Amino acid sequence: MTYTSPLPVTDGHFYEGSRLQIESLAMAYGEIEVLKDVTLTVEPATTTCVIGPSGSGKSTLLRGVNRLHEPKSGRVLLAEDDALRLKPDLLRRRVGLVFQHFNLFPDHTALQNVALALQNVKRMSKGEAERRALARLAEVGLAERADHRPRDLSGGQQQRVAIARALAMEPEVMLFDEATSALDPELVKGVLNLMAELAQSGMTMLVVTHEMGFARKVADQVVFMDEGRVIETGTPEQIFNSPQSERLRLFLSEVL
Ligand SMILES: Nc1ncnc2c1ncn2[C@@H]1O[C@H](COP(=O)(O)OP(=O)(O)OP(=O)(O)O)[C@@H](O)[C@H]1O
Ligand SMILES: [Mg+2]
Repeated sequence: MTYTSPLPVTDGHFYEGSRLQIESLAMAYGEIEVLKDVTLTVEPATTTCVIGPSGSGKSTLLRGVNRLHEPKSGRVLLAEDDALRLKPDLLRRRVGLVFQHFNLFPDHTALQNVALALQNVKRMSKGEAERRALARLAEVGLAERADHRPRDLSGGQQQRVAIARALAMEPEVMLFDEATSALDPELVKGVLNLMAELAQSGMTMLVVTHEMGFARKVADQVVFMDEGRVIETGTPEQIFNSPQSERLRLFLSEVL
């Protein structure tokens, strides 16, 4: 698979990402501790992919970064700011999250789905919001589909609308949680291409994925997690070609 695609996402538009630093993060659901001492840094305009077995805490980590679930201890820094002290809605304007299920409003068009967030959260006028929304949809290759409702779009197109919606907020960091895993196989590539283009256009990205080909080609850094801990961090070359731990070797032997 190649990730150079003709999608016009960059469109001359360069993002200015921020550094994301996670320091000794611990998280629990009730009594059950699921993240232990997780430390990693995503440098501005780079992509970090998080890989690891089911239940290792990857989604929990992303939920902690934008505080859908409050961490127990540790620090999260976004640029120079303590993310755990920002107001959650302000934080979520600065950190976009794209999930497996795209949660578009079914009764609104693609354009409205993107524009509504701008009107509600950024308090833009309808006209300005729609103008911006159209520009973002063009970036994800969907300008011609702006007036379609979600049910008249493929899963991959719906996910691209969800990405356009997140991008419209001009986040400093984008988090992706298995963004392609609910898609039919033939639609996966278009969304991965879009994510690769975003990475190239300067977005700071923290990407949970089981697409090892994507991690290998696009990531600047790969983080392997198991049982709530970071086991290894390195370049794709280091992680995939010379894993240091038995756990990573075992994981790779199962997924590659
Ligand atoms: N809301 C919750 N309440 C209690 N336990 C939870 C909750 N969400 C997740 N967990 C537990 O926390 C641990 C980490 O889950 P998490 O969803 O972060 O894993 P994951 O690495 O994203 O897995 P997957 O690859 O299957 O998505 C698991 O043991 C899971 O059962
Ligand atoms: Mg998960």
